[in-house]
Amino acid sequence: KLLQYNTSVGLPELRQKLVKKKAWHDKIKTDNDHVMLTQGAQQGIDLTARLMLNKDDGLVVEGPTYIGALAAFQAYEPTFYEIPIKEDGMDVNFLEDTLKTHAVKMIYTVPDFQNPTGAVMSLEKRRQIIELANKYNVVILEDGTYRDLRYSGQNLPTIKSLDSEGRVIYVSSF
Ligand SMILES: Cc1ncc(COP(=O)(O)O)c(C=O)c1O
Repeated sequence: KLLQYNTSVGLPELRQKLVKKKAWHDKIKTDNDHVMLTQGAQQGIDLTARLMLNKDDGLVVEGPTYIGALAAFQAYEPTFYEIPIKEDGMDVNFLEDTLKTHAVKMIYTVPDFQNPTGAVMSLEKRRQIIELANKYNVVILEDGTYRDLRYSGQNLPTIKSLDSEGRVIYVSSF
């Protein structure tokens, strides 16, 4: 099977395994139909950007953020809005002001061990961000690439697991 072409969403058996493990681990409720295998998180970011962003669409990013994501986004020529990041994650008041005054289509965030700051977003901010996304009808691209690298303590819930409207796209990495 591995030596043949397969469906582009990835081997069903592996997707099933990920659904079981990831869904339990990160409390994400999902099924096979909502999981896609990619060539790393980077391709997941690129595919999401291609799906969501047209030229000049508003895109919120943390300032600073992962340079590879910026490179992927730039290809689709969005208008970037940079939100300062603090020790406990994005400045949510700044985010709300931005969402109030600009047409934003997507928020890109790395809530766990953010690249490059290492910041972990607080639970309160995770809740506030999903509420703001619901209020202003914005999609969230949550990048959980470093989530599994925790050495001690408990992970906080993913933003995806707090999402009741299906507006969070979650990417991760092996
Ligand atoms: C925040 C973040 N997301 C995604 C990636 C890329 O992950 P992958 O190697 O799975 O494409 C990196 C790599 O540095 C990263 O720092």
